[in-house]
Amino acid sequence: MTNYRSFSIGVLLALFRAVAVATLVVSPVSGQTSSSFSLAKTPPMGWNSWNKFGCNVSDKLIREMADAMVSSGMQAAGYQYVNIDDCWQVSRDASGTIVADPVRFPSGIKALADYVHSKGLKLGIYTDAGTGTCEKRPGSLNHEVQDAQTYASWGIDYVKIDWCNAEGLDPEVQYAKLRDALAQSGRLMVFSICNWGVKTPWRWGPTTGNLWRTTGDINDTYERMSLIGFGQNGLEKFAGPGHWNDPDMLEVGNGGMKRDEYRTHMALWALLAAPLLAGNDLRNMPTETKELLLNSEVLAVDQDAKGIQGHRIWQEGPLEIWVKPLADGSHAVGLFNRGESAIRMTLDFKSIGAPASAKLRDLLDHKDLGTMQNSYSAEVPTHGVVLVIVSN
Ligand code: GAL
Repeated sequence: MTNYRSFSIGVLLALFRAVAVATLVVSPVSGQTSSSFSLAKTPPMGWNSWNKFGCNVSDKLIREMADAMVSSGMQAAGYQYVNIDDCWQVSRDASGTIVADPVRFPSGIKALADYVHSKGLKLGIYTDAGTGTCEKRPGSLNHEVQDAQTYASWGIDYVKIDWCNAEGLDPEVQYAKLRDALAQSGRLMVFSICNWGVKTPWRWGPTTGNLWRTTGDINDTYERMSLIGFGQNGLEKFAGPGHWNDPDMLEVGNGGMKRDEYRTHMALWALLAAPLLAGNDLRNMPTETKELLLNSEVLAVDQDAKGIQGHRIWQEGPLEIWVKPLADGSHAVGLFNRGESAIRMTLDFKSIGAPASAKLRDLLDHKDLGTMQNSYSAEVPTHGVVLVIVSN
């Protein structure tokens, strides 16, 4: 009897502890809180200040970007995070609390978050796992819990954590600490790991954050964008709903690439199920930029519920074919020409397991191409892409 009673109390206590740990701290399976996992079931979509504005961030800029995200139709298309990158912070006060630049953010970050929320959008912020950010603002080292609590009290929805000034730290250990600090803050925040691929973050990222950068920074050139984008092949097995490889933010609309090169950028990021954070000025976008960022058929490939990251199935020199299986059984296929002259490329339906007779739709140009037998051939411009859905 006594034995039985102490046994059942022991079991009850153990059960209680297991439930408490699983619900309050981290899920034993993923290492993330189960709810923070649900925040990024599909790759996060939004905007980030860094690519276009660098350190030139302010309350005014962020509010205008939030306004533009709504008026341009981007919010309706699925973009929701408005993310402030480096340079919003200047110091810590006597209690160690991080302080926003009082000149650039005169009403403080909480008021800005309230404004962004009033538009139905979400606010993201940036810090660094080391002693200082890349632009020498205070980092979060030894202030992990305090910073997470501050962000939670401001109403932050997304935190990107960089890796400058982190010498001697182990990213796997340090980012887990930050994960736990965010989990304990009581507010759900998307956790974006930005350590440029140091120590293969795709191996520990899925149990640590919602997304992790796989490489160093992108810039607004075809050379850099294509090197990063096409270099993602092989990482697809690490990504899935709640946890994504991040080949960096978009440069679409920043002016450094030609139309076909930006189409390649957007199509490739969609096939990669990459987070889509626009990095341009949303306030006055040329039609061409808008059409690309707002192309609902391309966005649907990125946001497909199955969350499978695409991979390369064929290559011949500068010609590559990439495939992303979609939830409805169809396939999104990109025929990419990285070469210097236009060329005809052929997709053999067998190579993607499609039936001999398949329907095709061109997503970038919104065109039904009809039913084809065995294969599909198209002229692909230099540095360009033809992006199609192949279905039964
Ligand atoms: C880099 C990071 C960029 C940007 C920048 C800000 O390390 O990869 O995306 O955040 O720092 O200083």
